[in-house]
Amino acid sequence: MDAMARTWSPESWRELPAAQQPDWGDPGALDLALKELRNQPPLVFAGEARALKAALGAASRGEAFVLQAGECAESFDNLSADSIRDQLKIILQIAVVLTYASGLPIVKVGRIAGQFAKPRSSANELVGGLELPAFRGHMVNDIDFDAASRRPNPKRLLRAYHQSASTLNLLRAFTKGGFADLNQVHMWNQEFVAGSPQGRRYEDIASAIDRALRFMAACGINLTSDVSLHQVDFYTCHEALILGFEEALTRQDSLTGDWYDCSAHLLWAGERTRQAGGAHIEFLSGLKNPVACKLGPKATPAEVLELCERLDPDGEAGRLTFITRMGAKAVREALPPLVRAIRDSGRPVLWVCDPMHGNTFEAASGHKTRRFDDVLDEVKGFFEVHHGLGTHPGGIHVELTGDDVTECVGGGDEIFVDDLHQRYETACDPRLNRSQSLDLAFLVAEMYRGQ
Ligand code: TRP
Ligand code: MN
Repeated sequence: MDAMARTWSPESWRELPAAQQPDWGDPGALDLALKELRNQPPLVFAGEARALKAALGAASRGEAFVLQAGECAESFDNLSADSIRDQLKIILQIAVVLTYASGLPIVKVGRIAGQFAKPRSSANELVGGLELPAFRGHMVNDIDFDAASRRPNPKRLLRAYHQSASTLNLLRAFTKGGFADLNQVHMWNQEFVAGSPQGRRYEDIASAIDRALRFMAACGINLTSDVSLHQVDFYTCHEALILGFEEALTRQDSLTGDWYDCSAHLLWAGERTRQAGGAHIEFLSGLKNPVACKLGPKATPAEVLELCERLDPDGEAGRLTFITRMGAKAVREALPPLVRAIRDSGRPVLWVCDPMHGNTFEAASGHKTRRFDDVLDEVKGFFEVHHGLGTHPGGIHVELTGDDVTECVGGGDEIFVDDLHQRYETACDPRLNRSQSLDLAFLVAEMYRGQ
């Protein structure tokens, strides 16, 4: 154990350079908000984080596949039962398609109930001669371009906590209270997609599941008593960006004495905050939650091995996930050296593909968008690299919404660049809509079968 690891505490990150932290202005107001957060109950429990770690460990051995999905950025303006339900519906649909095709358990992890902070490439934004702080997510400030909206406000930390609590409450009710029951598999298919080719293909799988359930019942298996048919384990994750917030929700588990960040089951460090000697990695290093780190095309094998040393010195299965976001053009060259280095070191790392963040560009209309074909090609490249090296493609990490938006171009139900303005609603990055998400599920399912 090195000196740093021995002196870890929930606040030890404060001694190191912390990238991407807002300038809160009023330290008194910040202290007050953090103090109030420290007095709030945890959002998740240590035992749940341990269960997720075990599930991710299984995925790292190729015995399960991870579906990490949700919003780029959650919004304070959009807390409705309908939007949470629709988000969950599409995640369940993808999970059913993947479970059916792969014959493996799908570990469901939502980018939800806490995904309120965004890293930015520059601290300020300049529009028409006016310079204001960049929008950093609703946990920090508001998106409107005026001085009052853009001023970071510590009260937002509390609002993010409370919205996470309400969201998680509804997710727990939906996933344990009957909504996620396999008998409801037809009901998750939304009307506007049911008649499309993807929707019909989904209906085929749903009908096959119905037949399988009837077959088992006819064989005398008691389907009512088996909770696994009626419930799902659904986990939450977000980028651990605003470290004061994360620290305030970090609690000592009364059973084991270990420290857990109870703001979500899994926390990750982004591509911009993953410096081995930086505050974010220091903070994650002392938690017992499963943790992840994003890796872009510039990551080197030496950096990746150092991150393993910092985040998972004991080589514990399920502890560390690398989420790679290389871009469709780079993935086949940039990924193999990293995977090879880890494979040769014998470390039990889980590899997850984020085919979104390396494929963003600006359309002529000014909309930030992604091509569905690039998203797909990156996933394909990810599978090819792992098959070539004899390692496991462990999961996918996607930004999607249950709504019928027009934010990414392409897909089976093609959206053209000229359509982007029709329903472009994201507060941050462009998301896959429902039929693009289902399309992706079928294509990933095919890659899985083709291996
Ligand atoms: N509990 C199992 C699982 O989570 C089966 C299951 C129930 C399921 N409802 C589901 C799978 C909805 C996918 C989607 O895998
Ligand atoms: Mn994003």
